[in-house]
Amino acid sequence: MVNKGFGFRGLFRSVFLFILASDYIRGDVNYSIVEEQKPGFVVGNIGKDLGLDVKRLSSRKARIDSEGSRKRYCDINTNGELVVAERIDREELCGDKILCILRFELVLEGPLEMHHVSLEIKDINDNAPTFSKDLVKLEISESADKGARFPIIAANDADIKENGVQGYTLQINDHFDLKISTNQDGGKYAELVLYKELDREEQGEMTFALTAQDGGTPQRSGSIAIHVIVLDSNDNAPLFSQAVYRASLPENSALDTIVAEVIATDADEGLNGEVSYEFGRISDLAAKLFHLNQKTGALKVQGSIDFEEETTYEMRIEAKDGYGLTSNAKVIIDVIDVNDNAPLIYVKSLTNPVPENLSPGTEVGIINVQDRDSEMNKQVRCSIQQRVPFKLIPSIKNYYTLVTTEQLDRELVPEYNITVTVMDEGSPPLSSSKNIHLIVGDINDNPPVFVEQSYHAYVVEDNTPGHALCSVAAQDPDWRQNGTVIYSLLPGEVNGSPVSSYLSMNGDTGVIHAVRSFDYEQFRSFKVQVMARDNGSPPLSSNVTVSVFITDVNDNTPQILYPVIDGNVFMTELVPRSAQGGSLVSKVIAVDRDSGQNAWLSFHIIKSTDPGLFSIDLHSGEVRTQRDISDADNMKQNIVVSVKDNGQPTLSATCTMYLIISDNLAEVPELTDRSHESNSTLTSYLIIALVSVSTFFLTFIIIIVGLRFCRRRKPRLLFDGAVAIPSSYLPPNYADVDATGTLRSAYNYDGYMTTGSRTSDFKFLSSYNDNTLPADQTLRKSSADFDSAFQNTDGLSEVGLPL
Ligand SMILES: *[C@@H]1O[C@H](CO)[C@@H](O)[C@H](O)[C@H]1NC(C)=O
Ligand SMILES: *[C@@H]1O[C@H](CO)[C@@H](O)[C@H](O)[C@H]1NC(C)=O
Ligand SMILES: *[C@@H]1O[C@H](CO)[C@@H](O)[C@H](O)[C@H]1NC(C)=O
Ligand SMILES: *[C@@H]1O[C@H](CO)[C@@H](O)[C@H](O)[C@H]1NC(C)=O
Repeated sequence: MVNKGFGFRGLFRSVFLFILASDYIRGDVNYSIVEEQKPGFVVGNIGKDLGLDVKRLSSRKARIDSEGSRKRYCDINTNGELVVAERIDREELCGDKILCILRFELVLEGPLEMHHVSLEIKDINDNAPTFSKDLVKLEISESADKGARFPIIAANDADIKENGVQGYTLQINDHFDLKISTNQDGGKYAELVLYKELDREEQGEMTFALTAQDGGTPQRSGSIAIHVIVLDSNDNAPLFSQAVYRASLPENSALDTIVAEVIATDADEGLNGEVSYEFGRISDLAAKLFHLNQKTGALKVQGSIDFEEETTYEMRIEAKDGYGLTSNAKVIIDVIDVNDNAPLIYVKSLTNPVPENLSPGTEVGIINVQDRDSEMNKQVRCSIQQRVPFKLIPSIKNYYTLVTTEQLDRELVPEYNITVTVMDEGSPPLSSSKNIHLIVGDINDNPPVFVEQSYHAYVVEDNTPGHALCSVAAQDPDWRQNGTVIYSLLPGEVNGSPVSSYLSMNGDTGVIHAVRSFDYEQFRSFKVQVMARDNGSPPLSSNVTVSVFITDVNDNTPQILYPVIDGNVFMTELVPRSAQGGSLVSKVIAVDRDSGQNAWLSFHIIKSTDPGLFSIDLHSGEVRTQRDISDADNMKQNIVVSVKDNGQPTLSATCTMYLIISDNLAEVPELTDRSHESNSTLTSYLIIALVSVSTFFLTFIIIIVGLRFCRRRKPRLLFDGAVAIPSSYLPPNYADVDATGTLRSAYNYDGYMTTGSRTSDFKFLSSYNDNTLPADQTLRKSSADFDSAFQNTDGLSEVGLPL
């Protein structure tokens, strides 16, 4: 500063003069200049100031000596002026010292003289404030609070005082302010103050300039870039892309099927933004079935998904970042039904056995069908495919009633094996079936039925009591006791006695036994009613007629009716002397209570007074003269006649016939006597009979002679004699039995019945003898013949014997 330098000049002079007054170190001279003067710049005229002789300066080898090896900044010229020899940088010389004084000596020789020279170097603003770096990086957490201070590097200015750093300015930005503070040692420093919170996610970094100014004129400044990096703090929770994820999943999906993928993002970075997934609230079942990938958020199937178990799964998934901020989302998985359950049939109730008398349409069972699937997969159709008298009627919901469609009949079909099939309407449809085994319960609806319409039993008379006659059988198709047949004889009368006195019946076997011995001659047949009854309740029964036929045994000897030996009474035949050979003189009348062959009588003369005189007809018993009677013949003639039947063995009876050959009855005194003696009615009957027989016989002969004239061959009525006998004459039981129809008459019946004669009133007697065999032949008739004989007859007794 030249001006100031001049100002000091007066002061220096006086100081200088004072120094000169002292020893050879004559005093000092002080100068002051600003730094950075060009070499040659005249600081001052030191010669003058020191009062030296300028001319002698060079001779006295005036020179400037610096202390030590320091640079020689100034020099002295020949004019005695102190000039700047080299650029003087105050900052280099003195740094930040406030006083910067350069000291050197002016040395003169001859005599040696030395003067201290002080040169004060004054500062000029030649340095701008500078920062040690161009860029400063600041890492500030975004979570930093408002008002937080962040010291920043100070600017440096080599100049001093006002030329040093006087202030800072900050480039305007959104978050920071600048605050200048003074520290304890008075130094100023700048701090960034956060006046608005940072958000890394909004603005991750920012750069702004900080400028430092000094106070010099002209002012200088320096600036630095502040790069603020906003450090992340975990201020963001992961965020799901959706609040609710909905997925549908067919049941039975394969393992590892991906159901859904949840995605959560975290705005934070690094660990703070690293999202992992885990289940939040979840049911135990769902936890078993689903697996969540922690990293990817993929939700996979890890168990078997069954719609029937659960139709929806709801769970919460949490997303978590590295420092534990979480958020969650809901996942709803709807399980889609698949037709994987066959419908099942349950028999809820069943009337088993089913009584066979149910009317059609009666409910016999209730069936329930269940299909665990849903919707169409659950719709079922239930049916019976067989031809059975049952059908299913849909009832409420999945119930069906099993009803009969027809009348059942246990006896036709005792049980049914019904297969109920059910099919759902899924695709593909599933079906199942169930067998219902229905037993038809018995109702006593069938009466016992006899195997035959009627039964015939043949028993030979004189049977032993207890003899089995026949057995009847009836069948009842009902079940157990309803079909158990019990036989019994219906009460009735046979010949005035109860049936039970004749027959007994084995109720179980149907075998009919004779209780007593039968006598053919007493009765030849009878009918009983047999009832077959089942054991049901009420019981059912049916009746059948059993006709019992007693067959004859030759157990009766022929009975001679005429001539009768009645005590001592003799019956005598009168033979006229005029009788010629071949004249009928008498007739032996015999009957046999047996029938058929057993009653087939033959007559033989086994002994006679005059064997050549009389003969007897083998069959008719007619006694005739064999030759003309001569006077020589004995008046009394006896013949013994044997009457034999044709049975096996043959039974026979004999009688003696007394004959008197005389023309006059009066000649026979015994006869009158005898007629007087005869009191019994029988005798008189016999007489009447005899007379009528004789009369009839004569008439008969006349007829025969007449017929011979006509040359008509007609079968001889062999039994004409017997026919002539009035029925009242015969023993009463004989006639009775005869009238009820005998085996013999049956033969005849067979002979003259025409087919269909039941409707015919007229019964034509074609030939009485057709079946009458000659005496020497044996009657052969098998039981089959009997049967055929009876085939068309309902009741033999109804048919009168055409006698
Ligand atoms: C020169 O300066 C020094 C101190 O720096 C002082 O002691 C001295 O008295 C001064 N001399 C004159 C003549 O002003
Ligand atoms: C019913 O019929 C089914 C199939 O047709 C068969 O398997 C079953 O054994 C039968 N059941 C009876 C009791 O007959
Ligand atoms: C017999 O039939 C009756 C009805 O008539 C019935 O109640 C009963 O159960 C049947 N008995 C048997 C063993 O079937
Ligand atoms: C069988 O006969 C008995 C007795 O005469 C009678 O009560 C019953 O009704 C008859 N039964 C039949 C099926 O005719």
